[in-house]
Amino acid sequence: MFGKRGTPQSGGAASKGFGAGGSGATPKPAPAPKEEPRQSTSAKDKKEPAAKPASKPAAPTPGAEPQSSKKDISAEGKEKLDTIKVNVFNDLMEAVDLSELSALTPEQVREEINDMVSEIISMRGLVLSMPEQQLVIDDICNDVLGLGPIEPLLARDDIADLMVNGPDVVYIEVDGKMEQTSIKFRDQAQLMNICQRIVSAVGRRVDEASPICDARLADGSRVNVIAPPLAIDGTALTIRKFKKDKLTLENLQQFGSITPELKTVMEVVSEIRLNTLISGGTGSGKTTLLNCMTGHIDPSERIITCEDSAELQLQQPHVVRLETRPPNLEGKGEVSMRELVKNCLRMRPERIIVGEVRGPEAFDLLQAMNTGHDGSMGTIHANNPREAISRVENMIMMGGYNLPSRAMREQISGAVNIIIQASRLRDGSRKITHLTEVVGMEGDIITLQDLCVYEIEGEDSNGKITGRHKFSGLRPTFWEKAKYYGLERKLAEALQQNV
Ligand SMILES: Nc1ncnc2c1ncn2[C@@H]1O[C@H](COP(=O)(O)OP(=O)(O)OP(=O)(O)O)[C@@H](O)[C@H]1O
Ligand SMILES: [Mg+2]
Repeated sequence: MFGKRGTPQSGGAASKGFGAGGSGATPKPAPAPKEEPRQSTSAKDKKEPAAKPASKPAAPTPGAEPQSSKKDISAEGKEKLDTIKVNVFNDLMEAVDLSELSALTPEQVREEINDMVSEIISMRGLVLSMPEQQLVIDDICNDVLGLGPIEPLLARDDIADLMVNGPDVVYIEVDGKMEQTSIKFRDQAQLMNICQRIVSAVGRRVDEASPICDARLADGSRVNVIAPPLAIDGTALTIRKFKKDKLTLENLQQFGSITPELKTVMEVVSEIRLNTLISGGTGSGKTTLLNCMTGHIDPSERIITCEDSAELQLQQPHVVRLETRPPNLEGKGEVSMRELVKNCLRMRPERIIVGEVRGPEAFDLLQAMNTGHDGSMGTIHANNPREAISRVENMIMMGGYNLPSRAMREQISGAVNIIIQASRLRDGSRKITHLTEVVGMEGDIITLQDLCVYEIEGEDSNGKITGRHKFSGLRPTFWEKAKYYGLERKLAEALQQNV
């Protein structure tokens, strides 16, 4: 056993509000325990009807029961089980020293919690069925070890995004569609506590004084927290879940995001070290695509990655991963993306990969691309390749570089070879919509040439968008480079052109 501060007593402080423990504990017909989402247990919440109308009808999803099915569960039985959970949890917190728990492995903690919860249940004279007891133990373990009510969602690999809008509203994105779940946090304090735990794991903090924080989970999922008073209705927690199995270009082809021919051309682009910008809107699949493209980098190359929150999952052996740092509470110690990219240049990189280009580091990345670090890549928020170029121009201008506009455009057109556009279509599917070459300059204008464009044709009976990837038939300007790498045949076959 570990640091007990006192054995829980059924009449003790921890059991406040649990007066009729014995009767309250008598289980009603058991709700499906594993499937059952956690419900808010505060007195205030209990008075309210359990189901709050969702803004959109929620489709049923395993592990996150839709609100509509709540009426199947005995509301009274559920309420009692929730009360038991809270009381057992309080007793447990009275009895254990959490700092000692942190010294144990998760398995050991689970075992300890298991023992203690069984002990508390018997001391309180509660009568619970085995599945109910297991549910109580699982929920408490999730609270102590993991991320509380959202823990089951994190275990699911089909969820792309998890959005918590205050303690009572949790949305998920599955198959490109938003769904509201019935999961709730006990209260704002529990939600905030979990956010704290997430961000402190990467040495950051979030509170009223510094209410905005980026972090990541141990599995690489990207996290953003914005707390009150900035988030008006309670802390907003957004998690971009990273797939356990890294997606590859093969997978994107299976999903219909690219055709086999486009896949081949994209492989060649990566293999022959073209400088590439991946452009797209929020959640369009930029980071995923960047990951996929890096899968075709030669294992012998030295790669340096710079990210705001390390998301990339490079498989190559020779990778140095760098991450920016926000300022501390006194506003000191910030390390910006620009500083990271500049520092990269002194680290003998062969390729530099910038997770997201969003500020003056654009200039440093272009410099790197222009000075022998071929095959560098980055993502950028833009709706089409032309806009991506304008965004780079704006970023450089806002960085305070006093470059004449023509000189700036020459830098861009000299540095960037390819822009790949990712899009999330209105049916939730993700497509690569453009593979565009930066050809050069015509007067003051940067000339672009689309090699492949996705053309939308219509919609099928299921509301899915139909369309096709169309190659322009033009010979890419990187043909000679492909030849240099001995890949012109591969390219010719994909483009159905003569060698
Ligand atoms: N081609 C695809 N087909 C299906 N799902 C995809 C595809 N590309 C990406 N996804 C999924 O979409 C989600 C968002 O992808 P990703 O993180 O790459 O987007 P992003 O454009 O980088 O987003 P952000 O703008 O927030 O950085 C992820 O869960 C990812 O697994
Ligand atoms: Mg991204």
